[in-house]
Amino acid sequence: MQPSITRIAHISDVHLLAERAQKHQDLRVRFLSFGRVLDAAARIRKLIAALRKAVRSGADHVLVSGDLTESGTPEQFETLASVLDELGIDPARLTLVPGNHDAYTSKDGWSKALEGPLRRYRAQAATDAGKVVELGDVAILPLDVACHQPVTRSSGMVTDDALERLERRLQDRAIATRTTLLVQHHPPYVHGSRAWQWVDGLSNAGRLTALLARFPETHVMHGHLHKCVDKTITGTRTRVFGAPALVEDDEESTRVRLYEVRSGHVASAGLAA
Ligand SMILES: [Fe+2]
Repeated sequence: MQPSITRIAHISDVHLLAERAQKHQDLRVRFLSFGRVLDAAARIRKLIAALRKAVRSGADHVLVSGDLTESGTPEQFETLASVLDELGIDPARLTLVPGNHDAYTSKDGWSKALEGPLRRYRAQAATDAGKVVELGDVAILPLDVACHQPVTRSSGMVTDDALERLERRLQDRAIATRTTLLVQHHPPYVHGSRAWQWVDGLSNAGRLTALLARFPETHVMHGHLHKCVDKTITGTRTRVFGAPALVEDDEESTRVRLYEVRSGHVASAGLAA
C-alpha cells in the first residue's frame, strides 16, 4: 500500500493594513511599515493571490504563521476576516497564528478578533498552548508566542506554562505516534547577541529547543525572519522551516511554501505555482 501523503501550504508575514483606514494610518503603522508602501489594497491582493495558490496546489491544510496584520488593530483583523470570508476558504483547512505585529495595539486584540470577525477560523487557530488541529497522520500544534510590547521591540515569548502544556501534549500517546508540526511566528532559536535576543528573540527559546530535542517527530514551521529557512536543530532530527514574507513579494509573484509529509518525514516541496 502506498504511504499517505499530507500536503501543507505555508504563508507568512502578511502585514495587512485596514482597508477603511487607508488615508489615516496611525503613527504606529507608519513606524512599523517604514520603508514599505502603505497600500492596503495591494497587501489584500497579495493575500488573495497567495491563498488562491495554496488552494490550487491541492494542499490539505494552509498555515499562516503570524504577522497577519501590521499592528493588530480591530479594523485590520476585520479586513483579514473579510478577505477569508469572501474567498470562501474552508475554515477547517486553515490555521492562523499571530505574530508580534498582531499584538502591538493591545494585549487581547488577537483573542477579541477570534471571538469577533475571525470566529469562523477560531477552532483551528492558535489559542491555548497544547491545542491540536487534527490532520490525519499529522497533528498541528498552533502556538501563540506574541506578546504586547512597544513597537521598538519585536520579541516573542513562549511562557513556562505554555511549555508545560506543550510537553504534556507531546507526551500524549495519540500525538507521539504521529508527525507533529509546531506552528509559531518566531523561530525556535536564541540569538547569538544578548541585546538582539532581548529586542527580537523568542524568550525561553532554549527551553523550547531542549523540549523539542526529546520529541524527534516534532518539527517547527515559523515566519518572522521574512525568508525561507530549512534547518535542523543541532544534535536532533527536528526540522525547522521558515516561510518568506508575503508583504515583501510582488503581487504577481507571491511565494507560498509547500511541504509533503510522508511516513513521518517532512520535506520541502518548493513553492506553489
Ligand atoms: Fe513580519
